[in-house]
Amino acid sequence: MNQTPALRLLSQRLAEKRAQGLERWLLALESAGGVRVRLDGREILVMASNDYLGLTRHPRLAEAALEAVLTTGAGSGASRLVTGNLTLHAELEREIARFKHAEAALFFCTGYMANLGVVSGLAGREDYIVSDALNHASLIDACRLSRAQVRVYPHGDWEEAGRLLAEAPGGALRLLVTDGVFSMDGDLAPLPQLLDAARRHLALLVVDDAHATGVWGESGRGSVEHHGLTPSPELVMVGTFSKALGGLGGFVAGANEVVASLVQGARSFLYTTAPPPGQVAAANAALGLVDEEPWRREKLRRLSAWFRGELTGLGFTLLSEAGPIIPLLVGDSHQALAMGQALLRHGVLAPAMRPPTVPAGTSRLRLTVTAAHETGDLEQALEAIARAAKEVDLELG
Ligand SMILES: Cc1ncc(COP(=O)(O)O)c(C=O)c1O
Repeated sequence: MNQTPALRLLSQRLAEKRAQGLERWLLALESAGGVRVRLDGREILVMASNDYLGLTRHPRLAEAALEAVLTTGAGSGASRLVTGNLTLHAELEREIARFKHAEAALFFCTGYMANLGVVSGLAGREDYIVSDALNHASLIDACRLSRAQVRVYPHGDWEEAGRLLAEAPGGALRLLVTDGVFSMDGDLAPLPQLLDAARRHLALLVVDDAHATGVWGESGRGSVEHHGLTPSPELVMVGTFSKALGGLGGFVAGANEVVASLVQGARSFLYTTAPPPGQVAAANAALGLVDEEPWRREKLRRLSAWFRGELTGLGFTLLSEAGPIIPLLVGDSHQALAMGQALLRHGVLAPAMRPPTVPAGTSRLRLTVTAAHETGDLEQALEAIARAAKEVDLELG
């Protein structure tokens, strides 16, 4: 095909990405979720999914989704404010509010859209946002979309976050925004200190618990519970059903005024078709399982701690101390890519994470453990990791 100048420019940019070791591509797996999948006809051990509790293939989610599709429809037909709002949505939102001990909750099509909605639906041009440097891309995009004044503090530096909050202009709504568990490092935000800073400076604290809901805290309520905090009026909790909860859909839980403001002004809630019945019913079923099957969380903790110990024994330095997100820092993007490819040759899937997903010079393999893994799976992964590290000359320690 003849390349137009615009297509030629795109080709050049793609070639530059390739040369920098930053090209990405799509792998088509022959089944979703689960620990073992088929890829190009081979059986592969998955060590990178966010299905922390192993719920993606739980029969209760499938049954709930199927029944809702058969009785209520495959689609919702319109946005929530037109004709797409179903009793199923209202029931789920009541359950989310109960689960998170919040006054109210709002369900979004995805966690990405929940983050876009909560930040840009609450804050506008005249407002002020203080944001952690390693926040997820959806929060970064949300800050940009809001057009508020945005100040970024070094990762986890709650003292600097407080200083920046103190500089907010009078009359501005102040938001302090952080991941609860950081997606690429697996570490926790210093929530008690951040909440204290938010209170002192009359701000709302928005916590994205995408990777903590279902996993962290005694009863899986997330990082707020883990830190022993009780939900309070200044706390706005975001979460997703797409990770530990095995399905799809985001949510915001918090004070009535917060949820009411989002119904009026969150564009990613207003201007999109309502989540369809199957998705909503599966989400509701997953919330029930977090309470009914606590063994999943316990097993996840046990396996994560064991796997972390074994990796440290092999000489790897881990970026966080606990939890199922276990990044192996490589540094160079070409070497990280080579390590991911070597692992795949040995039957283990854990693609390299490279810029802009992580800061330059910190490319890594982001390994994850799930409650669906068994010790034998992790032993297989360890053997493959040790072999791959040797093949790509990865310096350990
Ligand atoms: C921290 C964090 N927040 C939000 C999201 C978006 O969630 P979802 O996949 O449901 O859109 C992700 C991952 O995709 C994430 O890692």
